Amino acid sequence: MHSLSDLQDSVEHHFAAGPAAIGDHDALGAFNDLRTALEAGTLRSAEPDPTSQTGWRVNAWVKRGILLGFRIGKLTDQSIVSRGHPEHALFGRHEQTTFIDKDTYPAQRFTPEDGIRIVPGGTSVRSGAFVARGVVIMPPAYVNAGAYIDEGTMVDSHALVGSCAQIGKRVHLSAAAQIGGVLEPVNASPVIIEDDVLVGGNTGVYEGTIVRRRAVLAAGTILTRGTPVYDLVHSNILKATPETPLIIPEGAVVVPGSRAIPAGFGQQMSLSVYTPIIVKYRDEKTDLSTTLEDLLR
Ligand SMILES: CC(C)(COP(=O)(O)OP(=O)(O)OC[C@H]1O[C@@H](n2cnc3c(N)ncnc32)[C@H](O)[C@@H]1OP(=O)(O)O)[C@@H](O)C(=O)NCCC(=O)NCCS
Repeated sequence: MHSLSDLQDSVEHHFAAGPAAIGDHDALGAFNDLRTALEAGTLRSAEPDPTSQTGWRVNAWVKRGILLGFRIGKLTDQSIVSRGHPEHALFGRHEQTTFIDKDTYPAQRFTPEDGIRIVPGGTSVRSGAFVARGVVIMPPAYVNAGAYIDEGTMVDSHALVGSCAQIGKRVHLSAAAQIGGVLEPVNASPVIIEDDVLVGGNTGVYEGTIVRRRAVLAAGTILTRGTPVYDLVHSNILKATPETPLIIPEGAVVVPGSRAIPAGFGQQMSLSVYTPIIVKYRDEKTDLSTTLEDLLR
């Protein structure tokens, strides 16, 4: 096992070697140590850093290490084998993917006689992702390499946690929430969702956007680097700059809105563009609207 600084040196060295790292035992060893540390949550692709402008520091070398893993990986058969058909050679061999949940809601069992096709796939947490204890992941969900999901967070059905995304404690990623991944460029900040944020259903948070603690993204809100956000409370417009991503302030309640196009053909046609709006900052009513799911845990 490498020490952290040895690991960084080794990752940088093998990443810089390009294709020469393929088949190199040492490169594989370094990557395995990196992946183990990522899965244990002791190493992150981005981490809180009060001295940085955004409050987060990107560990570009860790992202290079994740990319190294893609580069040196070989294609292998990773099939999940269930009981085969009686006429097939695999019949009798039985392996099961493990799921853990409460006994009051066991998964239903089906047989081929039910005539229902349940296509395999479902939830997958990729190697190199860290998932803390107490996280609940509802199927189907996908958690990509380098992602970090902290304690007590709920990842609901059809949610994506993209590569290197950092998700805080007690966050609720509602059904179909898409948290974009940012693996390249390696110095780019990933999407960061801080503690106690509610990410509503069908939302999309992309391109390194930072959502500060306790903020609420109403269902259907989409945030990217290029999306200006209008704050009705402070009468200002939040935007990404060349140095900083779009940052949603602590406790902001953002809802999907629209804004009229003020000139030209757009005005002539009475068009408007999608615009997220901060309608208020979190209050007791918001807490009430967002805590109901505790009962389901
Ligand atoms: C944002 C949300 C939490 C409501 O928060 P709240 O603090 O209770 O908001 P309020 O009801 O006080 O509304 C404040 C203002 O925003 C508006 N507003 C609230 N939710 C809105 C939404 N989703 N879209 C547009 N406007 C919305 C209200 O009309 C109100 O405007 P007004 O003051 O002009 O009347 C809720 O709308 C929401 O989106 N919840 C997430 C639902 C979800 O995805 N659940 C997950 C299931 S898996």
